[in-house]
This record gives sequence, structure tokens and C-alpha cells, in this order.
Amino acid sequence: MTNKTYELYGSVLKGTKFAEEHGNEAYIPYSDDCTALKQPIKIGKYTAANRIEYQPMEGQDSDLEGTPTEQTFKRYTELAKGGAALLWFEAVSVCQDGKSNPYQLCITDENVSEFKRLVKTMKDACKEANGFEPIIIIQLNHSGRYSKPNGIPEPITAYFNPDIDDNPKKIATDEFIKSLTPLFVKSALLAAEAGFDGVDIKACHSYLMSELFSAFDRKGIYGGSFENRTRFFSDVTKAVFDALPENIIRAARVNVYDGFGGKYSYGESKDGKMFDLTEANELVDIFEKHGGQLLNVTMGSPYRNPDVSRPYRPGLDKPKSDALYGLYRLWRGAEEIKKAHPGLVIVNTGISCLGENVSFAAMGAAKEGITDFVGFGRMSLAYPCIAKDILNGNFDPKKVCVACGGCSTLKKNVLRSGCIVRNPYYKEIFKDFRKKEK
Ligand SMILES: Cc1cc2nc3c(=O)[nH]c(=O)nc-3n(C[C@H](O)[C@H](O)[C@H](O)COP(=O)(O)O)c2cc1C
Repeated sequence: MTNKTYELYGSVLKGTKFAEEHGNEAYIPYSDDCTALKQPIKIGKYTAANRIEYQPMEGQDSDLEGTPTEQTFKRYTELAKGGAALLWFEAVSVCQDGKSNPYQLCITDENVSEFKRLVKTMKDACKEANGFEPIIIIQLNHSGRYSKPNGIPEPITAYFNPDIDDNPKKIATDEFIKSLTPLFVKSALLAAEAGFDGVDIKACHSYLMSELFSAFDRKGIYGGSFENRTRFFSDVTKAVFDALPENIIRAARVNVYDGFGGKYSYGESKDGKMFDLTEANELVDIFEKHGGQLLNVTMGSPYRNPDVSRPYRPGLDKPKSDALYGLYRLWRGAEEIKKAHPGLVIVNTGISCLGENVSFAAMGAAKEGITDFVGFGRMSLAYPCIAKDILNGNFDPKKVCVACGGCSTLKKNVLRSGCIVRNPYYKEIFKDFRKKEK
């Protein structure tokens, strides 16, 4: 860690053992020069106007069929005006049973026209506010062990995991897993019809596809060897990418490291300290071989180790590890993957824990070329126009995400999810929730 990094991000480090434990090993880039962040970049046939991406953030505000509601339109209109060139639309389920909650979006023949209207609304809003059309990627998923389509857990797991299962849950059969590929293809084609510019096959955060990566003990064609554990990812990316019209961006969001420790964890290094990207790099090779172009690199699980997947400061929950180290690990992982795959466009994640220092880190990351896009997750909920404000030199530290965990608390409790600190609509939802809790 350089002196500059320490000086700048000191507020995040306060009260932690980070400096002692990680000393010179960790480094977060810093710059106050916005030039690199403003540089356009090509993704397939598209050109993104800048290097800021808004991450997929489930809002849990669809109707029970998975159709966008008025609140979905409101949320995305606000985000689209925000000035990020790349908008990564939240997880959309490929079937009703695989939803993470009753209000997760699900694209179907019946509601594709509403998705189309939503995409057009977003593009128009961005064009009017920023003078360019954003690139919009849809994320497709099956929630697997975290399926909750009727508001109570209805898990479909990749395997029995003695670290977290006290009794065998419903384990997905080979036939079941195979039957999902056509659902991904169908949803992807509907997304193309709706006007999305790209399709992301979600393979992260312990949902079904990513859980299979650690199915070391599973029997049959989806467990054991690396080839078997990644078969579902390989089959789906191939089938979807082959089926999509040529102009649509082929994308994925992948876990390159689970960080659970123990036997059932993917990407674990032998000393358990950082990560071992050997398998992740091979996985990304498969993605690239199938025509993948845009890769969003992530780690951990929001359900098991949120400090790894979205570093946070002490707030509603106490983190198990230091936020800055978590961010360093996420960024370092993405940087390593980028170095090994120079033909891909890479998005990194985790910046929101930096609070008032995000603008310097974003500029630094772009300037040093450790990523192609700097991804903003929780920060985009707290401060939807942050991209525009950073790029125009109007960044306001008073509007930032405080990484308190409020949006996640709403999500966990099957409520509409957003920023409980900066957005009055979600503040009220949170207040009501707290009242009912008492
Ligand atoms: C409320 C909430 C909803 C999320 N929804 C999604 C999602 O739909 N898909 C996904 O891949 N990640 C999702 N994430 C993870 C974020 O995209 C992101 O990886 C994480 O928040 C770390 O980035 P940040 O530090 O900028 O917030 C969600 C996180 C939160 C807190």
C-alpha cells in the first residue's frame, strides 16, 4: 500500500487491523485526473461513451408474474439519467420457480412488450440527460439454493453441502439442470426482442450455475472434474451465444473466488489467504471460446460472506473483514483476469465501500488500466447521477452511499430494495419494516 493510498482511504481503515495485517501488500489506485474515465471503449459493435458501469441491483419491485411495475420504471429512469455508459440490468429469472423472491423480474412472451417499453424509456432518458445512448445488458439467472419464488425458501441445490446444510435439500438432478438451457435461450431471445444490447449469463454469488463450480463431490455429468463442474456454464453460454443475433453483446458475471474456506469453495488458494485463479482463468477461456465479449468479475456470496462480495463498513451489520482489503481483493482478481484475457472487456466491482473517496479510486482504476469499466453497485442506488457528476467535476461527497447494508436488509426481507439513507421512498419502507419488527 502506498502512502497515498493510506492517506486517502484512511477513513475506511480507521479502527481496523488492515494496515497491520496487510501492510504493503494491498493497493487501491488513486487519481484526480478524469481523462481515462471519460475515454470511450468498444464492446463488439457498440461504443460505450465512458468507463463507468452501474451494477445489477435487484429492486424486488416486479408484479407476481415478473413484469416491471411503475416503481421499476421509476428506478431505472433515474439510473439511466445518471451518466453511466454501461447499465447492467438486474438479475431476471429464466423461470418462475427459480426466482430469488416473489417480486423478481422474469421475462416472458406475455410481458416482453413491457420490458421493451422499459428499455426504450431508459435509452430515451439517458439520451436526453447525457446526449448518448447507454449500453444495457440484461442478467439472466436461476437462483438455485436461494430460490424463494413464494416468499419462503424453496432451495434447489447443486449438491449437499455439510458446511451449510443440516439435512439434504432438494438437489437438482442432471435432467433438471439440462432442462434449464432452453429456458436461458428463450429468455435471451426475448431480451434481444425487448431491445437489450447484451445478455449476461449469471454465474456468481452461489446461485445454481456458480454453485456447480464447487460440486467436487457430485456424481454424474455436472460434478467432480473441472469439465463437469463447468458443463452447465459451458452449455448455456454456447447455446445462448449461438442463438443470439450477431449484434447482441455476449456477457457473463462470474465468481472467480468463493472465499468460504474449506472443501466446498471455488478458487481457494492452498494457504487460504487470497485466491487461486487457475480454474477461473480456464472458465473464462471457455466463455471466450464461445464468443464471450464482456465479463463482470465478482467474488463471494451475499448470503454467506457479504464482506467478500460487497465490502462494507460497520453499520447494520458488523463485517467479518476489512472493507478496504475486500475491495483490494475484488479489484486485484478482476485485474488478473483482465491481464490473462486481453481480448475481453472487463468490469470490476466493490467500490461503494469507499464512500466519499470513490471518485479518486474510479479515476485511478481507469488511469492505471486495471479494469475497462469501474462498476458502481450500492453507490448507484444512493447517488444515481454519480457517473455524470464525477465525469463533469461535480462530485458531491455528501450524496454518497455509506455502505450501511440497508439495501441488503430490505432485499433479505423480501421488500422493495433501494437506498434507505438517501431515497425517501426506501427510507419509509425501512421505517415500516422496523416498526413491524418490534
Ligand atoms: C440490494 C442489492 C441487490 C443486488 N442485486 C444483484 C443482482 O441482481 N445481480 C448481481 O449480480 N449482483 C447483485 N448485487 C451485487 C452488486 O451488483 C455488487 O456486486 C455489490 O453490491 C458490490 O458492489 P458495490 O460495492 O459497488 O455495491 C446486489 C447487491 C445489493 C446490495
